[in-house]
Amino acid sequence: MIIKKKVSVFTMAFAIVGLSIFSMLNYTEILSFCQEATSIFKRKDSDFFKLPNIDCRRTPPFLVILVTSHPRQIKSRTAIRETWGKERVIAEKRIVTFFLLGNTSQPFDRLIVTTESSLYRDIIQKDFLDTYYNLTLKTLMGFEWIHKFCPQSSFVMKTDCDMFVNTYYLVELLSKRSQTTRFFTGILKMHDSPIRDPGSKWYVSKEEYPENKYPPFCSGTGYVLSTDVASHVYMVSQKVRFLKLEDVFVGMCLAELKIEPEVLHSEPTFFASRVEFSPCRYRKLITSHFVTAAEMLIYWTGLERSMVEECPEIQ
Ligand SMILES: *[C@@H]1O[C@H](CO)[C@@H](O)[C@H](O)[C@H]1NC(C)=O
Ligand SMILES: *[C@@H]1O[C@H](CO)[C@@H](O)[C@H](O)[C@H]1NC(C)=O
Repeated sequence: MIIKKKVSVFTMAFAIVGLSIFSMLNYTEILSFCQEATSIFKRKDSDFFKLPNIDCRRTPPFLVILVTSHPRQIKSRTAIRETWGKERVIAEKRIVTFFLLGNTSQPFDRLIVTTESSLYRDIIQKDFLDTYYNLTLKTLMGFEWIHKFCPQSSFVMKTDCDMFVNTYYLVELLSKRSQTTRFFTGILKMHDSPIRDPGSKWYVSKEEYPENKYPPFCSGTGYVLSTDVASHVYMVSQKVRFLKLEDVFVGMCLAELKIEPEVLHSEPTFFASRVEFSPCRYRKLITSHFVTAAEMLIYWTGLERSMVEECPEIQ
């Protein structure tokens, strides 16, 4: 008797709550909810604040380099534009470099970005706050741009503002590949685990990521992927649980797509650390980390000047 009474009280309460929710929603609200849900899939191009000046249909680049950058890093962007990020054709392959930026609350920074964008037309920007923990959004913005505006390119590289990139060697190694789809390379991290120390920059709580192992991924300092993978990562990212660590998040998308990162060369070519400069050393690497704007100019000049010189086999 008592149980039955309890059940009926519950049922009534349920019905009342359900009915009141239903009566709160009218037809237009339901309609707007549906429209909002579909707009997530129909993302508009107008979401972009700033777009670079390129028509990939007419002049498809071989490689698009996407450089994550903060509005304040003007010196680095300037150095990159004058060195490895300068638009050039290497062995008949066109390479273009664009910067990925978010928004800031500082009017002065916004003015800088607007000015740079109109001068160089190499900035991709959307309306999210430009912070370290929004790096995943920034990278996805880059892949979204590739998907919508440059699917004609062959390869995409994602890297940072304090990286040195030897585009000559990268293009040479990429050109040798017969496989040009489902390809992902960089510094392979095959067995990394989440860092559970709250003091760490890469701290990830159990709530954010419960498992003890990350899927294979490549260090965010610099990785290269075929353009189809960039498109697929962008598309699949909507059903992958969000993680603020962008390189791991991209790895989670790759796992969903069943794509495994692989090496580009039998020798290490990507470095997440700073490699001491020497022309012969830098001729056989793709990335070196913690390079200042001033060093970028010196290293690049040194590298280009030494192109014709012989290097000893063992360095
Ligand atoms: C950036 O954010 C500010 C507010 O912080 C906003 O007024 C502005 O419209 C946003 N967009 C751009 C392109 O600056
Ligand atoms: C990321 O960007 C969004 C949108 O601008 C903002 O609301 C959020 O606070 C940012 N997140 C972080 C961690 O900065």
